[in-house]
Amino acid sequence: MSDLNYSDKVMDHFNHPRNVGEIPDASGIGNVGNPICGDVMRMYIKVENDVIVDAKFKTFGCGAAIATSSMVTEMVKGKTIEEALRVSNKAVAEALGGLPQVKMHCSVLGEQALRSALADYYRKNGRDPSSFEPKHDEHQGHGH
Ligand code: FES
Repeated sequence: MSDLNYSDKVMDHFNHPRNVGEIPDASGIGNVGNPICGDVMRMYIKVENDVIVDAKFKTFGCGAAIATSSMVTEMVKGKTIEEALRVSNKAVAEALGGLPQVKMHCSVLGEQALRSALADYYRKNGRDPSSFEPKHDEHQGHGH
């Protein structure tokens, strides 16, 4: 092991990320970005009867962001939307065995990507996501 402050679990999810990819018929897609580091994350969820049956992601970002999104998708699969909304970035970081303090913002990106995908699902189903939708959501089709 090198002397980095990363747990084995972070390294494992970074080197072997789970659920990378897209869901072609996703129920909801979330796009978020961190304007400071420039990393972006896209999360796809498949929802059936308010249960997240599948989750995939694509992250163009740092190792901690990749490990976090991998862990988020693992944690929310099989959860109801209500349960998934209780998965905080801190819970994800804990599940990863902790993140260095300077990398906590990367786990926030994971939480926001999930919430953004859930908000997309809500909107598609005529429900109001304003109680949990991330404020810094990078909306789809946001062109440069
Ligand atoms: Fe940007 Fe980690 S440095 S998400």
